[in-house]
Amino acid sequence: MARLTVEKLRFSFGYKTILEDISFELNQGEVLSIVGPSGGGKTTLLRLCAGLLDRQEGSIENSFKTQAIAFQDPRLLPWKNVIDNIAFGLKALGVPKAEREKRAREIALTFDLEEEDFDKFPKELSGGMSQRVSFARALVTQPELLFLDEPFSALDIGLKRELQNHIIELIAQKAITIFFITHDIMEAIRLSDKILLLEPDPGRIVKTYTFDRPQPERTDEWVYAETAKLLKDPYIIKTFELELK
Ligand SMILES: Nc1ncnc2c1ncn2[C@@H]1O[C@H](COP(=O)(O)OP(=O)(O)O)[C@@H](O)[C@H]1O
Ligand SMILES: [Mg+2]
Repeated sequence: MARLTVEKLRFSFGYKTILEDISFELNQGEVLSIVGPSGGGKTTLLRLCAGLLDRQEGSIENSFKTQAIAFQDPRLLPWKNVIDNIAFGLKALGVPKAEREKRAREIALTFDLEEEDFDKFPKELSGGMSQRVSFARALVTQPELLFLDEPFSALDIGLKRELQNHIIELIAQKAITIFFITHDIMEAIRLSDKILLLEPDPGRIVKTYTFDRPQPERTDEWVYAETAKLLKDPYIIKTFELELK
């Protein structure tokens, strides 16, 4: 079984320690979230795990064969249209042009992009459409491991739920493994099998929460109730510096 294993990871930018003593395991088919306040080192941890940043101390072993990333900002290529942006990753995999285009169109439609938008360039797209393209681009290659760095944070509540439901479908099909970063406790509860709480300065994991209920069965009522519980947890209160009222 494929697995991402992080052991005793420590990382600094200059003299500032950003991450300390980080250890966890992400197994195939799981959704693991890192939750913590802004500036706590979440993106740094994701970049290390995705191989975008060089490790300093500790070990990272990643046996997933394919991976993709979606960020908070869509980061589309401005000189490519919607379909070519989505198909871009398939080119690197050596998929022939006609097949690339076919798969890009199919996934674009499943993300509710419309035919009339396929030839548009990123500057002609709304923020929401750009994020649909970003998700389609990340998923078109059917990556075994998906890294998500706050990809829902800038979206309105309707689109957020729609894209989350796409992800929940993939989770239900056991079609994907997800390393998810967010500062939003409620969205972490909706999607995760396991949440690691990252306390900042320096970033370290202070508590782990696990959720057994299958994601498609997580009703709003359940999510709200679990969120309310966590917001009363002393570790969450301390990590997010919440005031008790
Ligand atoms: N390239 C960089 N050079 C120096 N410091 C950085 C760099 N990237 C991030 N940092 C610092 O590392 C800390 C953690 O940042 P980040 O991982 O982006 O946190 P988060 O994603 O939790 O908001 C912050 O203090 C940030 O200023
Ligand atoms: Mg970040």
